Amino acid sequence: METKISVLLSEEELDNRIREMGEEISRDYAGKSVHLICVLKGGTFFMCELAKRITIPVSIDFMSVSSYGDETVSSGIVRINKDLDKPLEGKDVIVVEDIIDTGRTLSYLLKVLRDRKPASVKLATMLDKPDRRVVDDVNVDYTGFVIPDKFVVGYGLDYAERYRNLPYIGVIEE
Ligand code: IMP
Ligand code: MG
Repeated sequence: METKISVLLSEEELDNRIREMGEEISRDYAGKSVHLICVLKGGTFFMCELAKRITIPVSIDFMSVSSYGDETVSSGIVRINKDLDKPLEGKDVIVVEDIIDTGRTLSYLLKVLRDRKPASVKLATMLDKPDRRVVDDVNVDYTGFVIPDKFVVGYGLDYAERYRNLPYIGVIEE
């Protein structure tokens, strides 16, 4: 049976919103530069588009993490599979995420990054599912879209490694 995917956020909606976010970040950090940390793999698509809309100097780095426990329940204990290439000391860091769900991964990751003495750490996410949050120490500074508690794919987000390349955000119809 063919899988049907309904569009939740179109390519145009995403482009427009990411453009606004880039402008906002450029204003907030005027006269400075920002160091974007992309959380692999889902964050890559959003980070590339966001970086293109930021008009102040940008540097980028990548980190890959996975949480212990099974696939569906994030335990909050994070293993670093690939660490950053460069130190963070003195840098104005923005962590760039595809989606914040329970917030457990990020809660842990933010602690790890703050320990490395950056000048500042902010958080940008393309999507936020606040209804699913189980931690109270993850404050989002830049949110693309708040979405309902639905499993979404596309624009970097996968279902068993599929659909990351969709240019829109969709919901898999059962
Ligand atoms: P959490 O915030 O620690 O629960 O984990 C967030 C991670 O779970 C995200 O970075 C995604 O990789 C994954 N995730 C959460 N919700 C979705 C979804 O709706 N579609 C695809 N991946 C998701
Ligand atoms: Mg992710």
